[in-house]
Amino acid sequence: MAIVCKSAAEIEKMRHSGRIVREVLDHVQARVAPGVTTMELERAAEQKMKELGAKSAFKGYYDYPCVLCTSINEEIVHGIPSEKRALKAGDIVSIDCGVVVDGYYGDAAVTVPVDGSITEERRKLLEVTEASLYKGIEQARIGNAVGDVGAAVQEFVEANGFSVVREFVGHGIGTRLHEEPQVPNFGLKGHGARLREGMVLAIEPMVNTGDPGARVLDDKWTAVTADGSSSAHFEHCVAVTKDGPMILTQ
Ligand code: MF3
Ligand code: CO
Repeated sequence: MAIVCKSAAEIEKMRHSGRIVREVLDHVQARVAPGVTTMELERAAEQKMKELGAKSAFKGYYDYPCVLCTSINEEIVHGIPSEKRALKAGDIVSIDCGVVVDGYYGDAAVTVPVDGSITEERRKLLEVTEASLYKGIEQARIGNAVGDVGAAVQEFVEANGFSVVREFVGHGIGTRLHEEPQVPNFGLKGHGARLREGMVLAIEPMVNTGDPGARVLDDKWTAVTADGSSSAHFEHCVAVTKDGPMILTQ
């Protein structure tokens, strides 16, 4: 399968899906507080999606059971919301959400502090991971290579003393959640597929304070850092346009 380029009309549709993802994420984020369970966040997201007429992109995808991924502290991605997991003071939580509206997908993630008591290391992790996403987005330009995106993310993350997860990568997105190309958050400048007008990439750096290694828990989904260090995750969908990178999930 080749990389699908989207028309201007399709990118408008994806912008609409992207706005809805952001609305759901904002709604969920506002509910993050000590004592709140990740299942309560899941229910808030489900309710909001229903209200907005959006279908979940995650629930039922390879049997994934929920509309959100909620990944706490050393959890990197794909944490499954649970009634048993209450957020605590000092935690950081990644909220990842995907929708499909009118046949087009949107996918975005943020990592937020549960309260003001997070460590300085975690505060810096959130700042560096989010900033690394924008370093990657900046490279989503006609004529650049996919490797330019990953190289920019990796360079920034490592210059700040953190590491980039290798096992999970970003992806093309459109009429499916995962399209070509894969978009690693590491790599070499000039390597990989060339970016062309109309490509849409979900860029999603996953950054650890410690070693880059990851493993998956017995639930078959939750990815955690191998060394137990903290991890953060931010994601935007970005269209490659004549005017440069266009963020669809604002
Ligand atoms: N944002 C993640 C991704 O693009 C979420 C996928 S979770 C799944 O891969 F449940 F849908 F698999
Ligand atoms: Co994604």
